[in-house]
Amino acid sequence: MAKLILNGNELEVEENVRIVDVIEEAGVPIGCSNGVCGTCEIEVMEGMENLNELTEEEEDLGMEGNKRLGCQCQLTGGTVVVEY
Ligand code: FES
Repeated sequence: MAKLILNGNELEVEENVRIVDVIEEAGVPIGCSNGVCGTCEIEVMEGMENLNELTEEEEDLGMEGNKRLGCQCQLTGGTVVVEY
């Protein structure tokens, strides 16, 4: 199991789950769900090392620093703290 803390709300999630599959229920606006529209931009406050590598889609949309696309992120374990 991994831990996702979304705007202060702590959630236990399966490893390798896409964040989009969790955050949609938590109220993050999701559009295309495949890295094109950019509506799911999130800020990773802690635990970037517990996410998959930046995808080509994220690079194309200019994600850098602690910015990621929720639909392109997978938790690989540990704890990730996200704000949106
Ligand atoms: S939902 Fe469109 S880029 Fe993530």
